[in-house]
Amino acid sequence: MTQAPTVPAEPQHALVLAAHPVPDSFNQALHAETVKTLEARGWSVDDCDLYAEGFNPVMTEAERRGYHDAPDNITPVKDYVDRLQAADALVMVFPVWNFGYPAMLKGFLDRVFLPGVSFKLDDGKVVPNLTRIRRLAAVTTYGGTRMRAMLCGDPPRKCVTRAVWHVCRPRTTKYLALYDMNRASDARRRQFLTYVGDQLRTF
Ligand SMILES: Cc1cc2nc3c(=O)[nH]c(=O)nc-3n(C[C@H](O)[C@H](O)[C@H](O)COP(=O)(O)O)c2cc1C
Repeated sequence: MTQAPTVPAEPQHALVLAAHPVPDSFNQALHAETVKTLEARGWSVDDCDLYAEGFNPVMTEAERRGYHDAPDNITPVKDYVDRLQAADALVMVFPVWNFGYPAMLKGFLDRVFLPGVSFKLDDGKVVPNLTRIRRLAAVTTYGGTRMRAMLCGDPPRKCVTRAVWHVCRPRTTKYLALYDMNRASDARRRQFLTYVGDQLRTF
């Protein structure tokens, strides 16, 4: 009897990192849509709302001094490291502030994406170490236009699609961005929510 070909296992577990302080903001609506869509796919979701959890984004002097001392460097953030390392998919939901991440999310990357966790240094070169993550997405909004962001180099887009991408080397990367939110109508916002759901259903 011939055996059926093995179908590669789908990622089952996503870490969603959300960073907006206002529960009834548009970003929190995007966050809810993200979690709902992934759960509807049958994935388990670790819903990490950094503000709601009171994450402390500030790296201490001791953490900086011990930054390269793996594995002890993870001690202050071990729970978050465990959650990151359990993820097959990573989705970051955030507004663009000063053409970067909100401090909460930046602090997560600084304090949790540590040597020995997200990368290893081989003769000074970054070697990806979060390769369990096969799918990477960002869901984000900008007040200004895409042209204005491009004139500034659009750092958050590059940070996700190049820097975070490099330590994960995912199979799929999606950068879902609503630009020009300062002028976006309710209809345009609803359309983007639908777009995010559609994109994450097939991600
Ligand atoms: C502190 C702060 C900094 C911001 N900096 C930028 C910026 O650099 N570029 C930009 O396009 N929009 C900027 N904005 C606009 C936000 O991106 C916009 O308000 C947000 O995406 C809207 O989402 P929300 O309604 O969920 O907050 C900034 C907003 C705040 C509060």
